Amino acid sequence: MTEEYERDAPASQDLFDRARAIVPGGVNSPVRAFRAVGGTPRFMARGEGPYLFDVDGRRYVDLVSSWGPLILGHAHPAVIGALSAAAARGTSFGTPTRGEVDLAEELVSRTPIEQVRLVNSGTEATMSAIRLARGGTGRSKIIKFAGCYHGHSDGLLAAAGSGVATLGLPDSPGVTAATAGETIVLPYNDPDAVAEAFAADGANIAAIITEAAPGNMGVVPPAPGFNAGLAEIAHRHGSLLILDEVMTGFRVARGGWADLTERAGEPVDADLYTYGKVMGGGLPAAAFGGRTEIMSLLAPAGPVYQAGTLSGNPLACAAGLATLRQCTGDVYARLDKTSAIIGDLADQALAAAGVAHRLQYAGNMFSVFFTDGEVRDYSAAQSQDVGAFKAFFHTMLARGVYLPPSAFEAWFVSTAIDDAALEIIAAAVVPAAEAAARAVV
Ligand SMILES: Cc1ncc(COP(=O)(O)O)c(C=O)c1O
Repeated sequence: MTEEYERDAPASQDLFDRARAIVPGGVNSPVRAFRAVGGTPRFMARGEGPYLFDVDGRRYVDLVSSWGPLILGHAHPAVIGALSAAAARGTSFGTPTRGEVDLAEELVSRTPIEQVRLVNSGTEATMSAIRLARGGTGRSKIIKFAGCYHGHSDGLLAAAGSGVATLGLPDSPGVTAATAGETIVLPYNDPDAVAEAFAADGANIAAIITEAAPGNMGVVPPAPGFNAGLAEIAHRHGSLLILDEVMTGFRVARGGWADLTERAGEPVDADLYTYGKVMGGGLPAAAFGGRTEIMSLLAPAGPVYQAGTLSGNPLACAAGLATLRQCTGDVYARLDKTSAIIGDLADQALAAAGVAHRLQYAGNMFSVFFTDGEVRDYSAAQSQDVGAFKAFFHTMLARGVYLPPSAFEAWFVSTAIDDAALEIIAAAVVPAAEAAARAVV
């Protein structure tokens, strides 16, 4: 079936052929490659509001939003204006700048953190938070959950969801046994497994790291009390809890998942938080932060080293700050509404076509699992019918809707999705669901 669509993308095909000759797999990040769904990745030429335009001149409603960052859609005037003004002043100085202070203050004002360090990617944020947790506790081991992705640093690549899940890869070669041996991987949403791990080795565990609400095995929200329970058991054993909000931060609510749960009366007493995606407004910016007492262990205030030539880059700070300043309560209400409408459209079409499916939300992040039961962990996520997703994906693409090219990713909405874009989605989901029904194994 995918060959049928190849004919529609000659310019993408040409670029992909050129790329594959000189870039491994033709892409600079694996999930872009369409390996899980087959066919040629679309090379995009530009974005405008809710739409992406590929090099063949096709238009798509974008439900990937650059994997989360573009909460306001493409080329939002406030972001482009701030970026252009910043670029005109110079691209990088290698010195402190006002923009970094402004962005840091914005982050601190929205979240539980007291101090923050800016970095360039979510991978750096989680890697540095773990180093800090190890430095602060003097312990070496970490707990992570199967299906949670925290970037591609060595110690976090075990059962890592996202691209690793999409490609069905075992844990990556190149990660040494010594490094992997410091990571304890447990099933998600399973407090008993966490209790057993602490009972067995609690004195050596520096931290638990968890996605605040996982989106990298598809969307699997934490069971009520799960995150709070992690904080409680970690603290009882002198360990820390790192809440990874790279995906959820500033997307699901003004202050991220922590904000959402706090308002729901379920506060989580995490020690360190990591952020990325939305806070960079489409440019490379990320951060980690926590209480002053812990953060002041970082160099140059303290002994734990962490650095970056382009950290706090003026363009990234300008784009991030402009984005966050647009992200008011109204924006989140609109995103919640849009994701509910799109989820309902997919749900109804799949139900009408008789396709087993399950829609799961974490705030305005959501995904469709092509399976019957509730998905509480990675093994349940892996039991879905990826063939059905593949057929669904390609029909949506052919009808002008760009979904994540993987059954293990969240769908990301933006405020730019308007009635016209929703109509395109509504028209696409019906044939997509029928194609999925034909593909069901
Ligand atoms: C929860 C989470 N943590 C960390 C990362 C890594 O971020 P980056 O891709 O910016 O390195 C991601 C990326 O998708 C993520 O979703």
